Amino acid sequence: MKQLADRHRGSRRNSRAGRLIGTVTTALALTLGPLGAAGFAQESGSDVQAKLDNPYEGAQLYVNPDWSAKAAAEPGGDAVADEGTGVWLDRIAAIEGNAEAMGLREHLDTALQQADGKPIAVQLVIYDLPGRDCAALASNGELEPEEIGRYKNDYINPIRDILREYSSRSNLRVVTTIEPDSLPNLVTNTSGRPTATPECDEMKRNGNYVEGVGYALAQLGAIDNVYNYVDAGHHGWLGWDSNLQPAADVMFDAANAAGATPADVHGFIVNTANYSALKEENFSLTDSVNGQPVRQSKWVDWNQYLDELSFAQGFRQAAVSAGFPSDIGMLIDTSRNGWGGSERPTGPGPRTSVDAYVDGGRYDRRIHLGNWCNQAGAGLGERPQASPAAGIDAYVWMKPPGESDGSSTEIPNDEDKGFDRMCDPTYQGNARNGYNPSGALPDAPISGKWFPAQFQQLLKNAHPPVS
Ligand code: BGC
Repeated sequence: MKQLADRHRGSRRNSRAGRLIGTVTTALALTLGPLGAAGFAQESGSDVQAKLDNPYEGAQLYVNPDWSAKAAAEPGGDAVADEGTGVWLDRIAAIEGNAEAMGLREHLDTALQQADGKPIAVQLVIYDLPGRDCAALASNGELEPEEIGRYKNDYINPIRDILREYSSRSNLRVVTTIEPDSLPNLVTNTSGRPTATPECDEMKRNGNYVEGVGYALAQLGAIDNVYNYVDAGHHGWLGWDSNLQPAADVMFDAANAAGATPADVHGFIVNTANYSALKEENFSLTDSVNGQPVRQSKWVDWNQYLDELSFAQGFRQAAVSAGFPSDIGMLIDTSRNGWGGSERPTGPGPRTSVDAYVDGGRYDRRIHLGNWCNQAGAGLGERPQASPAAGIDAYVWMKPPGESDGSSTEIPNDEDKGFDRMCDPTYQGNARNGYNPSGALPDAPISGKWFPAQFQQLLKNAHPPVS
C-alpha cells in the first residue's frame, strides 16, 4: 500500500482549492486523484486514504493523558485539561516510554480509543536532531553533532515503523511538527551574523540539520496518514526581510535532501513553544507617530510583521516562492501567546512618541521579542481550532502549557539538558535578545518538566479567558 503514497499526495494537491473555506472532505479528496477513477477502482474496499487538504478539518484532537492529568490536578486546570496538546518525542527513549510517560504505540492506541471510530488527529513533535538547540542550552539533546546515523536508525526509523503499523487506520491522522528551531538557527545564528554561535556554525558545516530534516520528511511523509509540518520559527525571529526568504530557501533545501521531495511537506508551523501574539490590534505597520513609522519603534525594530497571523500568511507566500506547492497550509502554536489578564491593553498607547504608542498598545508584554524562556505575564492563547483564517490549517497547542522551557538555575539531569541563562530571571541578556533582561519566571525546572507556577499564570492570563 505504501507505493500509493505519491498518488495520494497528488490528490491532496488537487483538493487544496477548499483550503480557504475549510470545507474539504475525505470524499472530495478521494474523487480527485490524478490517475482518475480507474486508479482508485482497484483500491475500493481497502483502507487506504488520500492525504487530506487539512488533517484538522472535522477531526477531534488527541488528548494526551499524561499532560491532561497534570493540568487537571492544578486548581482550575480541569477547564482546559481536555484540550489536545503535542506529544514530544524528545529522545530515543520517549518512543518506548516508561512508567511515567506513555510511549508512541500507547499514545496511538489510546487515541484510537478516544476516537471511537471518528476522525482524530494525533500531534507529534519530532525533536531529536544531532547537535539539537545549537543557539541555546536549555533543550540540548542526546545526540552529538555528528550522530546523524543514530538519528536515522535509532530515532526516525523506529518512529516510522510504528506509524506504518497504524497507516491503514482510516480515522487516524498523524500530524508531525518537524524539528523546532533547527533550520531557522542555520539562517540567523551562523557566521556573518552578530548572533552566530560555534555550535550553529558546526551544524551548518556538517549539514546534519538539513540531512536529518530531509530524512524525517521522506520517511514519515511516505506514510498515508502522516502530515508533516516543518517548524518555521516565529515573526520575532524570521519576520525581517533578511531572514524570511533565506529561511524558506533553507527549508526547500531540506525538503529536497535525504530522499525528501517538497510534496512530503504538508505545511509549516510557526510560534512553536514561543510567546508571540497572534494578532496585535492596537497598532498597525502603516501607522506613524510624529512622522515616525511604527516599524521604527524599539519593539518592532524594522520587522515586516507585527504578529503571528500575518507572519504565518507571509511565510506561506515565501515558501511558495521558494518552490513549495501553492497548497501548503500553516499551523500556529497558540498555547501560550494569549497575553490576557488585567495588564492587557484595551486600546492604543499615547501618541507622545512612537515607542509610547507601540509599547502602550501591544498585547505581547515581553521585555524583548527575542525572549523565549518561561515568560512572565504570558497567558494561554486561542484554544485549538481548525481552519481559523485564510491559509491556516489550525491553531494548535503544540507546546503543552505548564511544561517548562528551561531551568532558572543549573539543575543536574540525565537528559543532557543544559542551563541557559535566558531562563534565569536575573540575566541581563545577549546579542539574541538585544542585551535585555530575560523576563523569565523564577524557580523553573528543566525543560519539559511540569512547572505549576507557570501553569497557574497561563490560566490566570488566558486570552480568550478560560471560563
Ligand atoms: C524540551 C522537551 C519537552 C518539550 C515540551 C522542550 O523545550 O526540550 O524535552 O518535551 O519542550 O515541553
